[in-house]
Amino acid sequence: MSHERHRHGGHGQPHGHGQPHGHQTHGDPLGNPDDLAAYLERLEGSTRAEWQQPDAIVAALGLRNGDRVCEIGPGPGYFTLRLARAVGPQGRVFAVEAEPRIADVLRTRLVEAQVANADVILAADDETLPPESVNLVLIVNTFHHFARGAAYLRALATRLAPNGAIVNIDFHAGDLPFGPPPEHRVSREEFIAAARTAGLAVVREEVFLPYQYYLVLAARNVAR
Ligand SMILES: C[S@@+](CC[C@H](N)C(=O)[O-])C[C@H]1O[C@@H](n2cnc3c(N)ncnc32)[C@H](O)[C@@H]1O
Repeated sequence: MSHERHRHGGHGQPHGHGQPHGHQTHGDPLGNPDDLAAYLERLEGSTRAEWQQPDAIVAALGLRNGDRVCEIGPGPGYFTLRLARAVGPQGRVFAVEAEPRIADVLRTRLVEAQVANADVILAADDETLPPESVNLVLIVNTFHHFARGAAYLRALATRLAPNGAIVNIDFHAGDLPFGPPPEHRVSREEFIAAARTAGLAVVREEVFLPYQYYLVLAARNVAR
C-alpha cells in the first residue's frame, strides 16, 4: 500500500456532504483531513453510535478487570475511554496514536475524564509497541491507514499474552453511507489475507455491525 492510498478524509461521515464520500483532497500522510476539528467532531458525533454500536463492541470483547489492552489508532478516544472503564482501575490501556495533534487531544480528554489507567503512546506502525504484553489489541477503522499492514500485525502479535487476541473492525468494501471512500477500504478478504501473512488466524467473527467486519485473530506460530 502506498502512502498516497492513505490520504483521505475522515470517517463516520455520510457520503455527499460537500464532497463525495466526505473525501478531502488534502490531509496529513496518515489520512487525517486538514480540518482536524471537524474530523474529531465527526468521530465523536452522537449519531455514530447508531451504526457503530460501541457498547456492544466492547461487551463482545469480553474484557475482564485487570486486563491490559493496546488500542492502535485511537483517534480522540471514542473507544479508549470505554476500554479504560472495561478493564477497571487495575487494568491498563495503551493507546498508540501516530498523529501528534490527535494524541494531544486524547491526552487532554483522558485528564478531563480523570482516566488514570490509560497511556497515550505517540508512534506509527511498529516504531513503538506497548511496553508490556497485552490481552487484547484493538484496531477500529484504522487498519486501512497502515503502510505495512501485515508487518504491523506480525509485530503486534509478538506482544500478545498467552491466549491474547487481536480484534480488527473496519469498513466492508463497496458503496456504504459511512466510512472512507471505497478505493481506500481494505475488504474483509484482503484483511484476512494480511492476517494470514502475519501468522494469525481468524478464531471468531461478530456480524452485528451493519457496515463493518469484526474479526478476532489469534497468533499461530508467531515467535514471542
Ligand atoms: C479513522 S481514525 C479512527 C479513530 C478511532 N479508532 C475510532 O474508531 O474512532 C484513525 C486514527 O488512526 C491514526 N493512525 C493512522 N495510522 C496510524 C498508525 N500507523 N499507528 C497509529 N495510529 C495511526 C490516525 O491518526 C487516526 O487518529
